[in-house]
Amino acid sequence: MLEYIKNLAVAAGKLALAEQAVLSADAVHTKATAKDIVTDADRKVEDFIVTMLKREFPDFAIFGEESGKSGHESDYCWVIDPIDGTAGFARKLPNWCVSIGLVHKGESILGAIYAPVKNELYYAEKGKGSFLNGIRMHVSSVSDLESSIVVTGLGCLRANWKEENNLKYISRIAPLVGDLRKYGSAALDCCRIAHGVLDAYWELLLQPYDIAAGDIIAREAGAVITDFYGGSDYPARGFLCTNGALHRTMLEFFSDYQDLRR
Ligand code: IPD
Ligand code: CA
Ligand code: CA
Repeated sequence: MLEYIKNLAVAAGKLALAEQAVLSADAVHTKATAKDIVTDADRKVEDFIVTMLKREFPDFAIFGEESGKSGHESDYCWVIDPIDGTAGFARKLPNWCVSIGLVHKGESILGAIYAPVKNELYYAEKGKGSFLNGIRMHVSSVSDLESSIVVTGLGCLRANWKEENNLKYISRIAPLVGDLRKYGSAALDCCRIAHGVLDAYWELLLQPYDIAAGDIIAREAGAVITDFYGGSDYPARGFLCTNGALHRTMLEFFSDYQDLRR
């Protein structure tokens, strides 16, 4: 199964890369807000993935960002983000990927993420480790904030969250860490925690498809993932993915977090 999903993620990524090369302005559309965009390529890539998954796994459920729920009623659900990092994709930037995760009764158990521009294939299966292009990955051992490089995202600002948005946490965290990054793909941010090249990632507003594959890829490399209360209700109550060594320290920044459930 994992081999099939790895190959599918690569094929979908190559399709997306070809689409990016010829993407025109009239193929870019807005969704819920003017800042939330989708391209014709997102839809085409998702259609391709969904068609292939239905053919290969006719008994499984499917949930895709662009097409919603389809397939069978099942405890096993493929969760797809056809292009994670669409804002950058649409501007012909390189940091985006295809993400396909398998969720069993709410738990991410298998995933593949392919970033075509750098030809990076990340994948994991529960209990079997996490890999980048065939090489086993492990989280970093950085345990002090000053040496850490952390990453975040601004999905909440894109959704026009006025209260309890990420600006408060950024202003708390940025002065204390070694460096703060924003790359624009939640799935790849999780992969980089898994790879040990970044040490912690947090974000306030994510959807299950943003992290379905990144979740298992990060955890199989030793990452710790919780919501902002230290529990497992993520991404609904915040998303914090760290190398483990920094988890408790990072969690403290969110001690006054309020789950406003917009
Ligand atoms: C977005 C990216 C981004 C994150 C946003 C997501 P999309 O996904 O993962 O890094 O900050 O919250 O919505 O829209 O490019 O699939
Ligand atoms: Ca996404
Ligand atoms: Ca997307």
